[in-house]
Amino acid sequence: MPSAAVTDRWSIKNTQSMEQEQFELWQALLEERTGMTLSQERKIFLETSLSVRMRELGIVEYDDYYEQLVVGSTESKAMEWSVLVDRLTVQETSFFRHPSSYALVEEYISGFIASKGKSESLDVWSVGCSTGEEPYSLAMMASELFTQAHGKAYFGVTATDISLPTLSKARRGVYSARKVEQIDVQLREQYFHKLNDREYQVVDVLRDRICFARLNVLDLARAPMQNMDLIFCQNMLIYFRRWRKKQIVARLAERLAPGGMLVLGLGEVTDFHHPNLERVPFADVLAYRRKD
Ligand SMILES: C[S@@+](CC[C@H](N)C(=O)[O-])C[C@H]1O[C@@H](n2cnc3c(N)ncnc32)[C@H](O)[C@@H]1O
Repeated sequence: MPSAAVTDRWSIKNTQSMEQEQFELWQALLEERTGMTLSQERKIFLETSLSVRMRELGIVEYDDYYEQLVVGSTESKAMEWSVLVDRLTVQETSFFRHPSSYALVEEYISGFIASKGKSESLDVWSVGCSTGEEPYSLAMMASELFTQAHGKAYFGVTATDISLPTLSKARRGVYSARKVEQIDVQLREQYFHKLNDREYQVVDVLRDRICFARLNVLDLARAPMQNMDLIFCQNMLIYFRRWRKKQIVARLAERLAPGGMLVLGLGEVTDFHHPNLERVPFADVLAYRRKD
């Protein structure tokens, strides 16, 4: 069995070069279905990813694979597309990835708890949640703050992503020791149990708070989420065109409850204004509050 490094070298060596015209077809298909734009610099990445997948399927020509994704039966097209999307999207993530954003979330949830009645529940949505580190971080923070205030947690997290394999990893909630050991020790002891020397799993009480679901943000108009108190969407829109980012952010804003907050990645959306939103002044964070 060759090592991963050997396999990678082998796949690059055996990757056939794609005509520019073909590349543009693949770029357009990816953008139309996911919103992601694939720059010219990522042509080799596309060639390698497609070649690896085509070899698994026994397909030789890029055009034949393209046809399978576009012309095949609805079910087979959808299944194959879901595998490919997982290979082509960037899933990099980590717990409490952008500390300033979490500092604002902490302030927001504390304010929510102080201003609402004891039985009022907080609804959180992690959009583009990848393998789950983001929704679990939000859930840990909410759990801590509610428990300190009321002795009981009143919140739920909806976590959505386009990639099904990524969502199934997120649902399992199993992470490497290297990742989990970066979390504050008190949180780690409370919300994870050690499976073995290499892995930890999120405890069921926290996993049960999160509803993972597949959702393509291009289909937000059909999404059932409403009246969310906190929407967190980071490191996904960076791959989208400017007009599309603004359209998606406007659609997310419509899903906020009055007073609800939308947290984006710093610099991910520029020049954005919405009549129902006001910018939240907080250092190193891009966030908006829906006016009451
Ligand atoms: C880089 S990860 C960001 C994860 C997390 N939000 C963070 O900041 O750490 C981007 C995620 O967006 C997802 N994604 C890309 N296009 C999408 C789309 N059209 N609809 C929903 N999710 C999408 C990818 O599958 C991936 O999991």
